[in-house]
Amino acid sequence: MSTNASNNSPTRPSPNPFERQAPIPGVKHVLLVGSGKGGVGKSTIAANLAVALKSEGLKVGLLDADVYGPSLPRMFGALNQRLAISDAGKLQPLVRHGLCLMSIGFVVDENKALVWRGPMLFKAIEQFLRDVVWGELDVLVVDLPPGTGDVVLTLAQKVPVSGAVVVCTPQNIALVDAMKAVDMFDQVKVPVLGVVENMAYLEQPSVGGADPVRIQLFPKGNLDGYIETKGLSKLGQVAFEPRIGLSSEAGLPILVSEPESPMAENFRQMARKLILLLK
Ligand SMILES: Nc1ncnc2c1ncn2[C@@H]1O[C@H](COP(=O)(O)OP(=O)(O)OP(=O)(O)O)[C@@H](O)[C@H]1O
Ligand SMILES: [Mg+2]
Repeated sequence: MSTNASNNSPTRPSPNPFERQAPIPGVKHVLLVGSGKGGVGKSTIAANLAVALKSEGLKVGLLDADVYGPSLPRMFGALNQRLAISDAGKLQPLVRHGLCLMSIGFVVDENKALVWRGPMLFKAIEQFLRDVVWGELDVLVVDLPPGTGDVVLTLAQKVPVSGAVVVCTPQNIALVDAMKAVDMFDQVKVPVLGVVENMAYLEQPSVGGADPVRIQLFPKGNLDGYIETKGLSKLGQVAFEPRIGLSSEAGLPILVSEPESPMAENFRQMARKLILLLK
């Protein structure tokens, strides 16, 4: 008798991987930030949304789930930092600007993680969730790696996920990958709470009292049409702003370096929308 036949018998239904989900103690919401496409600004948006959620009064953690290309250590000025171990043998996240941070870059040499095989990656994700002292958090924001697949599936199978934010740049070539990401979230039953259009335009400062001019850096594709057809909501637009990149390079999210700027207020507005959607 084949094993498959016995697995399919009515007395032994095939296991539903999502039944093995267990909440992270103390963590109310897990929020994924992803896109499918690389380099569209997932980490930038995740980091600034996390700081914005914190400035709206929430307790926030930020998990860098990009094991092969961690960005968080550099973006938070924490390169080569190592984590303390609690008495119970768990990792204490790094605290920066009031956020609890976790990245593979705080645990192993970045170059070592680059040659990990799949099972080590899954183990690392599991440990990020269970072996870190996250404490009481309203939201754990997860910065996803590019691509559809493994990491999201692992996360969605292990913990209940409240929702996802999809980051996309305006052009159709990025939209194609964002659509795949939306499909992937649908498949693992993670609701897409909203879409952020990053690098939507470049604003030239006004000269002599004239209105500022918006330059379309990337060709405008059908992102808005897609959002409407799918019944998704657009959380907001983020301009291409060299100060955002410079600030990240210097180890400070723009919300920390320029909290009073319109850029920061834009992120806080998106955070307020998210808070309503998470309730
Ligand atoms: N709105 C923006 N204005 C200017 N620069 C930006 C903006 N958003 C992101 N960047 C810059 O673009 C680069 C890529 O951003 P980021 O690392 O956040 O993308 P990513 O999608 O996380 O990439 P990866 O797929 O490698 O994880 C970085 O140098 C970042 O500083
Ligand atoms: Mg990234």
